[in-house]
Amino acid sequence: MKTVGFVGWRGMVGSVLLDRMASEGDFTGCEPVFFSTSQVGQPGPTVGGRESAPLRDANDARALAETDIVVTCQGGDYTRSVHGALRESGWDGYWIDAASALRMNEASVIVLDPVNRRVIDEALDAGTRDFIGGNCTVSLMLMGLQGLFDRGWVEWMTCMTYQSASGAGARHMTELVRQMGELGGCYAPGRTALELERQVTARMANGALPTEHFGVPLAASLIPWIGGAMDNGQTREEWKAANEANKILGTDRFVPIDGQCVRVGAMRCHSQALTVKLTADVPLADIESAIAGANDWVEVLPNDHEATCQQLTPAAVSGHLRVPVGRVRKTTFGPDYLTCFTVGDQLLWGAAEPLRRTLLILLGRL
Ligand code: HSE
Repeated sequence: MKTVGFVGWRGMVGSVLLDRMASEGDFTGCEPVFFSTSQVGQPGPTVGGRESAPLRDANDARALAETDIVVTCQGGDYTRSVHGALRESGWDGYWIDAASALRMNEASVIVLDPVNRRVIDEALDAGTRDFIGGNCTVSLMLMGLQGLFDRGWVEWMTCMTYQSASGAGARHMTELVRQMGELGGCYAPGRTALELERQVTARMANGALPTEHFGVPLAASLIPWIGGAMDNGQTREEWKAANEANKILGTDRFVPIDGQCVRVGAMRCHSQALTVKLTADVPLADIESAIAGANDWVEVLPNDHEATCQQLTPAAVSGHLRVPVGRVRKTTFGPDYLTCFTVGDQLLWGAAEPLRRTLLILLGRL
């Protein structure tokens, strides 16, 4: 049985990953070894009903090299400090990583198997050893619109995102809820809407809200900037859309994708408004059936008020693997311009699920 080392399993993505593995019975198919950067020697977790051995040192390349596969959700700094040394030591096991550090390396594949199983299988045949989870918005967009890319119908696309606090990290989620709590205190029976608004705006302006992590209030507001600045005016998050999507798909023709990435006060679901320049005037019914049939998780919703409000929101999708695509219609720009809206769980298909499934592929179970 293959030995799988887990690093960063206590963090948010790591916890979701372990929960998914436990609920799917995945631990029966491997020998898990748990690593830690800070609590070496302490008891390991109980997974799949089995107690694990004491935690090993995640910074010890020799200990990592005893595993067949390493799965890390520890973050980019850890990857940068450990991966190179581990490879230089001669370890030729598989490295599965949630962080972006190695994503664009030629030697790595970005994994999203419902979309790019062919790319993954070819890479395995070619001896690739590094398998990296994609950016969450990119993965969720591709899970939604795979059907259009598979048919070569996307000439170019804009992605306008509404990204949840979870994408920024666990502490940001906590901060958002604390901000909401502070603003909730503005309510008093009998206050008019304008009085409430003045109270809320005053609390946001006078430093009453915790902003250590976001830097500014997110509750009752939004932040139209995600990631570092690029020289071309994009943020790094915006740059990833085209560059990661094309790498995941293994496209022959680079499909331009660009847009604005915005942080909103959702907890763990990223939403995206997409406008697609189609390569032809494809009938809407064909578009909907191509989208709906592309994978087992995407769902096309009718473009009506009821379905949209009940099923196409972060509230409806949180904690679920389904990826609804709704508001699908041709735009008024012309018959070869499509618009739609999609929502996906940032911690499931956006982060943990592609890693879990890559592990299953490497274990020969998928
Ligand atoms: N960078 C993403 C975000 C999360 O900030 O929402 C992970 O891909």
